[in-house]
Amino acid sequence: MCGIIGIVGKSSAQPSIIEALEKLEYRGYDSSGIATVSDNSIIRRRAVGKLSSLKELLNKKPIKGEIGIGHTRWATHGAPSLENAHPHKVGKVALVHNGIIENFHELRSQLISEGQTFVSDTDTEVIASFCSKLLESGMSPDEAVVNTLNNLEGAFALCFIFEDYDNILIAARKGSPLVVGWGSGEMFVGSDAIALASLTNQLTYVGEANYVVLSNNEAKFFDFQKKEITPEKVFINSESVLISKNGYRHFMHKEINEQPSVISYALGSYTGSDRKKITLPSQLPNFSEMDRITMTACGTAFFACNVAKYWFEKISELPVDIDIASEYRYREPIFSKSTGAIVVSQSGETADTLAALRFAKNKAMQTVAVVNSENSTMAREADIIMPIRAGVEVGVASTKAFTCQLVALASLVLDAARQRKKISSSEEEEFIEHLFTLPRLINEVLLKENEIINICSELAKAQDILFIARGSLYPLALEGALKLKEISYIHAEGYAAGELKHGPIALIDNRVPVICFAPSNILYEKTVSNIHEVIARGGKVLLVSDRKGLKDFSGDVWASFEMPECDSFISPILYALPAQLLAYYSAIEKGTDVDQPRNLAKSVTVE
Ligand code: AGP
Repeated sequence: MCGIIGIVGKSSAQPSIIEALEKLEYRGYDSSGIATVSDNSIIRRRAVGKLSSLKELLNKKPIKGEIGIGHTRWATHGAPSLENAHPHKVGKVALVHNGIIENFHELRSQLISEGQTFVSDTDTEVIASFCSKLLESGMSPDEAVVNTLNNLEGAFALCFIFEDYDNILIAARKGSPLVVGWGSGEMFVGSDAIALASLTNQLTYVGEANYVVLSNNEAKFFDFQKKEITPEKVFINSESVLISKNGYRHFMHKEINEQPSVISYALGSYTGSDRKKITLPSQLPNFSEMDRITMTACGTAFFACNVAKYWFEKISELPVDIDIASEYRYREPIFSKSTGAIVVSQSGETADTLAALRFAKNKAMQTVAVVNSENSTMAREADIIMPIRAGVEVGVASTKAFTCQLVALASLVLDAARQRKKISSSEEEEFIEHLFTLPRLINEVLLKENEIINICSELAKAQDILFIARGSLYPLALEGALKLKEISYIHAEGYAAGELKHGPIALIDNRVPVICFAPSNILYEKTVSNIHEVIARGGKVLLVSDRKGLKDFSGDVWASFEMPECDSFISPILYALPAQLLAYYSAIEKGTDVDQPRNLAKSVTVE
């Protein structure tokens, strides 16, 4: 989940590398670095912390060279330090790496026994050292790289440059994403299309366990046995991946505010002009023949699966197993030939979710990838893609992708229910109408941001916060807690409201705010009982409910937030808004780095 970039250019590589790294900073921001080849030597600049530190350094000490590599790091092996920052250079080779080398201890011990020394704690320096040894033995860059690749276990995307070669860059991937960009008289390679968007709109996705040799006017692709291959070129709409804050202080705030428009766009694309029937991509999952669905994802995307389970089981009468992707393939799940597998991922690159997808494919399940990035590895490997159409999401805390995942999953549920003859066409139309009320209702919530700001001025003083809810809102309690932890660093947990009394209620006192999502639905009364249990123990409750819910509540809550009334089908989508805004404004109150919270990265491409 580091970001890598390589350029074989026709003018100074430094500005383009930095521009690409700015786009890749979402993948990690513990340190960054750049290396170029100039006058037959490799020059490097590296800095700890955000990319701004590297830029300052380069302002003072720019580097020459038309061929170069760059890196933004999310630490795996070794703390964020100058020694551990990429590019790593040993002898006549320098490289950048995204991934984890699983056999690095063995390789390192072997190299140490042969007299090599190391200056960093990283697995990456081991790759550089191995490759350097082969170059010294007389191998060409090409031979040395292939030989190195065949000795690595684990996941990697790599870019190599070589001291005596100012027109060859070699990049390789196994497990981690890599894309080549075609320019005019210059070639690029990077972790994703976003990094290359301002450089070119012609891309080739590097295949699994393939490497590519780039000069400034061509790219030759090979597998690790050196067999040449010819992957296809694709053209992207660069504007669709170019990103800016559009006047907002943070990407997260911009993305929260984009939800009415992206949801409306996504829904329009799933329903056609008459809005009566869900019309999904041409190849549809065959839900009528499925006996169950297994859903896997990580983090926020996993909570979207939790909501979808309620919908699939209630509306389409299709049993659903949900698994955290990092656990799924290790628990020996039971399935049949008729089990369908759905993975959900904003990036489409999350290593654990990708491994779950591959596990399901190997077991011959029909696979559906619900993804935002339509060019991602998951999108390319799944049998069916369900695009969520949220547009590029930059903030590490997922917001619009979550609500768009829910809208996409709700549409799949309706499609499944129709195929399985569990809903009539008028019922389907009614569900669709409810979905179409979302943009308006979300706007209503957004108009009340000031109330949330007031609440957060107090809320952000807490050290621990609990979120509670019931039914299909329970996953929103989990999501609210994750969002708050992630960007405000306040400890928070989400619980099913009825579960509090089985342990967590021991935490309650007047310093632990309890945020309760309780729309006036069939579970309202039961949730209210749980709120009273909290109040009776001196707890301070923030009640988030609709007008009826707030009016019917008798008791002393610390604060309340009125939500628009909505059908219970869409309430898990609408209640994402207060969850997001409470986290956002608590983080603002605490002065944390909202878009790039500590220790995290947007796309987690390591297991
Ligand atoms: C969400 O706010 C998180 N940053 C994180 O939990 C994220 O949802 C998770 O890493 C999964 O990412 P994906 O959707 O790209 O697979």
